[in-house]
Amino acid sequence: MLAPQTSLGKMEFFYVKIHYPASTILLPLSILLLFCIAEASNGTIPAVIAFGDSILDTGNNNNLKTLTKCNVPPYGRNFPGGIATGRCSDGKIFSDLVASGVGVKDLLPAYLDPNLQDNDLPTGVSFASAGSGLDPLTAGIQSILSITDQFHLFEEYTSKLKRVVGEEKAEAIIFNSLFVISSGNNDLAITYFILHLRSLQYDVSSYTSLLVSRATKFAKDLYGLGPRRIAFLGTIPIGCVPFFRTVEGGLYRACGEDSNQAANMFNYKLSSELSVLNSSLANATIFYLDVYNPLLALIQNPQGSGFEETTSGCCGTGEIEVTALFCNQLNPFTCPDTSKYLFWDSAHPTERAYRILVSQILQEYGKNFS
Ligand SMILES: *[C@@H]1O[C@H](CO)[C@@H](O)[C@H](O)[C@H]1NC(C)=O
Ligand SMILES: *[C@@H]1O[C@H](CO)[C@@H](O)[C@H](O)[C@H]1NC(C)=O
Ligand SMILES: *[C@@H]1O[C@H](CO)[C@@H](O)[C@H](O)[C@H]1NC(C)=O
Repeated sequence: MLAPQTSLGKMEFFYVKIHYPASTILLPLSILLLFCIAEASNGTIPAVIAFGDSILDTGNNNNLKTLTKCNVPPYGRNFPGGIATGRCSDGKIFSDLVASGVGVKDLLPAYLDPNLQDNDLPTGVSFASAGSGLDPLTAGIQSILSITDQFHLFEEYTSKLKRVVGEEKAEAIIFNSLFVISSGNNDLAITYFILHLRSLQYDVSSYTSLLVSRATKFAKDLYGLGPRRIAFLGTIPIGCVPFFRTVEGGLYRACGEDSNQAANMFNYKLSSELSVLNSSLANATIFYLDVYNPLLALIQNPQGSGFEETTSGCCGTGEIEVTALFCNQLNPFTCPDTSKYLFWDSAHPTERAYRILVSQILQEYGKNFS
């Protein structure tokens, strides 16, 4: 399982769980809804700032000496201009869609983008790094940004922001911004289940507790620098991504049960710890964002949203080959019509799937955003 190291990038980040009675109520993307949310938050959310993994990374890994990258075709096939920006999907990703959904801007730039301008700073950036997690080992083995590295870059950002807009305005921006974090997916998927780097030391229960303690520490440290509105994504249904169906799902490629159970346990603990933290920190809105169940519902009821394929990625065969994590220009199997696919590659949703997910989330959690 070490051979696919080059493919780790594509795999990071997703997981799911099985227990939830999946809701079958799939809300259609509603323009009206998005409009209402943008209205409600008008003037209240000046910036979106993201940390974590590939669900939110808009290109920070591009210039790192790592193999975990998504900046080669066919990634970006449906992105404006058809360019591979480092986003691990065919087009826009979760962080872009949240930024536009709350009325901030259409694309959330990567902080390490060499073309980043001073005037990009006041509306926010992403520090996320595809493949990253809460366990420093997860970033270490891939030579990408750990959550601590991302935190230090945020400190650097705040100094720059103060220089650009002045101290008082910078503090107001940070106080009112929406902070979004996605992590845990790669710790469980890569470090624990694929590479078994922690499974001798920890059982699933102790490892998920360790990860959650790191997540709450991160939220507290962030709060210490001024942020008040902090949203933590849980993990995706890891076992249901095409890769885990292949390696864990048996002959019929069912969702992997062990990885989904671990994801559910992590999510449950994260959600309770964040709720405790929220009540203990003054003026904070720190909350858990469930992406597991909405994604699982899409997987289980794809027709409701017009998807035809939810078990294999558009790019990569995903059926048989364990090594089909890869998605690159040499792969002759990329599907012609991405809109029918929930997954773009063996681990990441398509832009279309992200759009549905984000519109549901903005609706459900919209009150926390304002
Ligand atoms: C948002 O608020 C600002 C200032 O209050 C106002 O100028 C602007 O027109 C508002 N935008 C929308 C879309 O309502
Ligand atoms: C967070 O705590 C505040 C009180 O400090 C409360 O008003 C708010 O509803 C809580 N938010 C969440 C998401 O639990
Ligand atoms: C909480 O908000 C109130 C009112 O805006 C403010 O006076 C107080 O300093 C804040 N406390 C903290 C710890 O941010």
